[in-house]
Amino acid sequence: MSTAAAQDQIIIPDDIAKSVLLPASYANEAGIVHPALTWLRANMPFARAEVEGYAPTWLATKHADIMEIERTPTVFRSGLGEPYINSLVDTRFLSEMNEGRRGLDTLANMDAPEHTKIKNVTGSWFMPANVRKREESIRAIARQSVEKLLSYGGEVDFFKDIALYYPLRVIMSLFGVPPEDEPTMLKLTQDMFGNSDPDLQRKDVPATPEAAARAWRAAILEFHEYFDKLADDRRANPTDDLASIIANAQVDGEPLPGSFVNGYYIAIATAGHDTTSATTATAVQQLAAHPEQLEAVRADPSLIPGLVDEALRWASPVKHFHRIIGEDTEFRGQQLRAGDSLMLMYPSANRDEEVFTDPFSFDLTRKPNKHIAFGYGPHQCLGQHVAKLEMRIFFEELLPRLKSIELAGPVSYVQANFLSGPKTLPIRFKAA
Ligand code: HEM
Repeated sequence: MSTAAAQDQIIIPDDIAKSVLLPASYANEAGIVHPALTWLRANMPFARAEVEGYAPTWLATKHADIMEIERTPTVFRSGLGEPYINSLVDTRFLSEMNEGRRGLDTLANMDAPEHTKIKNVTGSWFMPANVRKREESIRAIARQSVEKLLSYGGEVDFFKDIALYYPLRVIMSLFGVPPEDEPTMLKLTQDMFGNSDPDLQRKDVPATPEAAARAWRAAILEFHEYFDKLADDRRANPTDDLASIIANAQVDGEPLPGSFVNGYYIAIATAGHDTTSATTATAVQQLAAHPEQLEAVRADPSLIPGLVDEALRWASPVKHFHRIIGEDTEFRGQQLRAGDSLMLMYPSANRDEEVFTDPFSFDLTRKPNKHIAFGYGPHQCLGQHVAKLEMRIFFEELLPRLKSIELAGPVSYVQANFLSGPKTLPIRFKAA
């Protein structure tokens, strides 16, 4: 830990700061982002990044520090800014478009007591005992995905053709959204989170930050339109699906306002699939790279939960969450001011040498595996049990059907500093 006097702000060297902040770095996370994070953990574990085009921001890179920050939400606030960092241009455009108000009424934008009340609306629905009731319907979707994979006859882009759709279908089935609407959901999510990646940008708008901010806003408005109709329908015809629980929720004896209903739907629809697609694809990529681990987990399916956790640690598909400092405070010898921005670097925490033995080796038998890919504390991922269940089921269905997997070409990654992972994963496989 730094022992510098509180007044000496430790400023991260520009090349390191850019390697962590700029979306383009994530096209080569192993070659650019991880070396920079490793350097930071060793040399400046808690320090300030001042990258041109971005507001200055503190970077927390150690596992223990991130947990401590997340345990102190009254100081490190979620409700004072956006959940992820944007460039200054994006921030200005979004703030103008949102007229200074928060862009979305989602859990990730809230502090207690509001956050606690709104999270409680679905808290018990997302508990393992309730989520497990969906096991059979999730398994049916997993089987269809595996059949689809096998239908490619030996060569497939595992990300584009399989991983991208499986979690989307699961999340939409939990909502009760019909399969024919899934392509719309997929496109809108990509508009929201992939908008820094040239391959994922809307083709009908020029590739400028202003256009990206507008595309983001347009995606939100389209989501609102779609989910307003869904909520109206579930108020008229309630079922036990997630959309009905949210549409008919009461908080403090009042119906949940429409913007909160939509905020919930949007958060779950978006948080629930790109993350899980990226992790599922990462697990397959690592099994292709480690045939002995593939053989071990095929022979002993009780290793599957370990595979899922190690893929979560390895992929850490959520690259950061953002906090705003609520009051002047000192942390790791640094003076933080109210209004300062801070990024929690989950991929760094999950390779922290002080927590993980041999952190740069993929090992599905790793025990314990204290990754914090789902975050920690009051904002910890609402959907973690859904995500783990759907990945476990997917591999339970997939592994008995596959004898071998190997890479069939280069893997490419999404250029985004919030949610990122493979965007192409060509594989060759032999069916069992
Ligand atoms: C591999 C899959 C996933 C990963 C790695 C992941 C990761 C995360 C992370 C890091 C956070 C922020 C936690 C924090 O601030 O401490 C989060 C929050 C959240 N996640 Fe996930 N997530 C995944 C899947 C899902 C799924 C499947 C859903 C919904 C079904 C979901 C819904 C949410 C929601 C609503 C929040 C906001 C919670 C809050 O602020 O209280 N996530 N997730």
